[in-house]
Amino acid sequence: MKKIEKEPRAAAYPAPAALVSAYNEKGKPNAMTAAWISNICADPVTLVVGIRDSRYTYELIEKSGCFGVNIPNVKIAEETDYFGIVSGRDVNKFKETGLTVFKGKEINVPLITECPINIECKLVKQVKIGTHDAFFGEVLKVYYDESMINEKGSPDMLLADVLAYGTGNYYSLKEKVGGYGHSKKE
Ligand SMILES: Cc1cc2nc3c(=O)[nH]c(=O)nc-3n(C[C@H](O)[C@H](O)[C@H](O)COP(=O)(O)O)c2cc1C
Repeated sequence: MKKIEKEPRAAAYPAPAALVSAYNEKGKPNAMTAAWISNICADPVTLVVGIRDSRYTYELIEKSGCFGVNIPNVKIAEETDYFGIVSGRDVNKFKETGLTVFKGKEINVPLITECPINIECKLVKQVKIGTHDAFFGEVLKVYYDESMINEKGSPDMLLADVLAYGTGNYYSLKEKVGGYGHSKKE
């Protein structure tokens, strides 16, 4: 296979087009789209998000010490994009899109009702990398829409119809091709 070489770029995809949410000091919710996000540790359960210091959300997370991570589905792809192209400094994105929030039970974070997966995170570490900082969030609670739980009681990404992002585009998931460990021959 012939390989095409490119200069360094963000090429670890697909990723979720997550909505990272936080309250401001007046208790108003804001959120921004973030594709630079990953689970990073099992114990304590921790994820990491790369956020540029110019984002309003960056400021809100620094001040509040917590944030929400919300995984959108295909139904709200357009709203998800909107949260990534305007700033909460200029616009109330929730008012403009009609998306709604509920409060986290563990800490003071806004979580987005219309997203099938919601994750409450406590900021445990912030590391400056370059243009972006890595925000490490310890996961305190996870919420799933009941409709994405399969007959075995497990969350199912296809039932949720989660949105994926990469190469500058949004995608839906097509099908399941295997389960964890399915390569093992008996
Ligand atoms: C698909 C998509 C993915 C994005 N991923 C990130 C990201 O991972 N980190 C980041 O700092 N900005 C990212 N952005 C840009 C921010 O979402 C955007 O600057 C947003 O307007 C910031 O909103 P705020 O000022 O209300 O925080 C992304 C935008 C889009 C559309």
